[in-house]
Amino acid sequence: MPRPALLFVCLGNICRSPLAEAAFREEAARAGLDATADSAGTGDWHVGTAPDRRALAEALRHGLDISGYRARQVSPEDFRRFTHILALDRQNLADLQAIAPADATASLSLLLDHVDGRKGCSVADPYFGADEGFAETWREVHLAAQALVRALAG
Ligand code: 4NP
Repeated sequence: MPRPALLFVCLGNICRSPLAEAAFREEAARAGLDATADSAGTGDWHVGTAPDRRALAEALRHGLDISGYRARQVSPEDFRRFTHILALDRQNLADLQAIAPADATASLSLLLDHVDGRKGCSVADPYFGADEGFAETWREVHLAAQALVRALAG
């Protein structure tokens, strides 16, 4: 199997997918899994900016500094460069399916499909909600990161 290369995709690439990327990197490092990870957004509003301050704070609560991350928009090339593309919610998945090139090689799935009992579920967008929403986002992306590492390492 080629080295796993995972791309986490949400809408803005400043809240959910950076946290998913950070959680996966941490779990992969802990497990000694040789994999790469990145994140992107389907939208382009925040391209070049750092994660939302609430996402930065949530990551720091788990010992992770993601202040160096910069948002980017997903591109057709990503479907050939990555082995797995994980959509944070169902709309992200539909948007990715709509732009997937015919020669895509990445396997495209919903992030929570990898978590027992959560198949078909979306990670809710915390951007317009209360700060506490980011703790819930973390819980979900962390569960998914653990499940992905188990599956890829096993
Ligand atoms: P994300 O959250 O998709 O988890 O990064 C959002 C960030 C920004 C916007 C929407 C969702 N926005 O509309 O600007």
